[in-house]
Amino acid sequence: MIKNATLRQLQVFEAVARNLSYTRAAEELYLTQPTVSIQLKQLADIVGQPLLEQIGKRVFLTDTGRELLKVCHEIFDGLARFEMLVSDMKGVKAGKLRLAVITTAKYFVPRLLGMFCQRYPGIDISLKVTNRERVLQRMADNQDDLYVLGQPPDDMDVVLEPFLENPLVVMAAENHPLAGKKNIPPQRLAEEQFLMREPGSGIRLATEQFFSERGLKLKVRMELGSNEAIKQAVAANLGIAVLSAHILTLRSSIEEVAILDVAGFPIRRHWYLAYPKNKQLSVVAQAFLEFLHTESKLLGEKYLLGITGFPTQDRAKKKKK
Ligand code: PGA
Repeated sequence: MIKNATLRQLQVFEAVARNLSYTRAAEELYLTQPTVSIQLKQLADIVGQPLLEQIGKRVFLTDTGRELLKVCHEIFDGLARFEMLVSDMKGVKAGKLRLAVITTAKYFVPRLLGMFCQRYPGIDISLKVTNRERVLQRMADNQDDLYVLGQPPDDMDVVLEPFLENPLVVMAAENHPLAGKKNIPPQRLAEEQFLMREPGSGIRLATEQFFSERGLKLKVRMELGSNEAIKQAVAANLGIAVLSAHILTLRSSIEEVAILDVAGFPIRRHWYLAYPKNKQLSVVAQAFLEFLHTESKLLGEKYLLGITGFPTQDRAKKKKK
């Protein structure tokens, strides 16, 4: 039965299911909306069950639709891999590289991608930046080629390649009473107001682990969904926060926030390039992995040196003067 479906019908279904909109799918595929509806109706007839349901103006996938969407991803991934293989055989690397990375990696990964694209001009990139929980969800749904994480998942069988340090530090406004103090005990921080990332964030998870391991509970004054917003709020003296040292790569932050010298900090972590163990990497994804092995260390060392005030002690000294 499903063998009678055409590739075009699957393509139309995939576009509607991904966008959850007939209009957007029609625009994307340069089709009219009635054509999209007809193709979907024919596909649902072949399957013998509804694939989508519309409630009010919103489109939802049925359970059957969700399963078919996974199959579509496998088919289209397989075809894309084949296409890349053919261009590789012809001696050119071409195709698409889809990456999903955690928020802190957005300061570094684009630099790496810039160099990668210069070397392989035929490769297109799509880069999704989001928090750990959503990156893990995308990995579970097999939505991208490669992922960058700060903490490996506990419940997924993944290949992990650490490639650069991603230390977490405690930041406060530069005129904060704790700025410049030596070896602050973590208990002291429990008295401060904290600014926290949203649930699902890897930084939040690591922060909570650090303090709960020491039997401490934090006073959370505000939850914010972006590292930059937290940094601005720290600078405005709304509270202190644990953030990645990479947030300080932006020059403007030099004078606004101080890194506190807290015992147990920085929390040493890495960025990992990750992908599910059973995933078949495309030619382009393999090329990126190789590129990362050779280039990231070189680039990374230069880059980390550029982070203001890292390591912690030096910065604390500088601020004290
Ligand atoms: P997050 O991850 O964006 O989920 O907080 C960042 C990190 O772990 O460095």
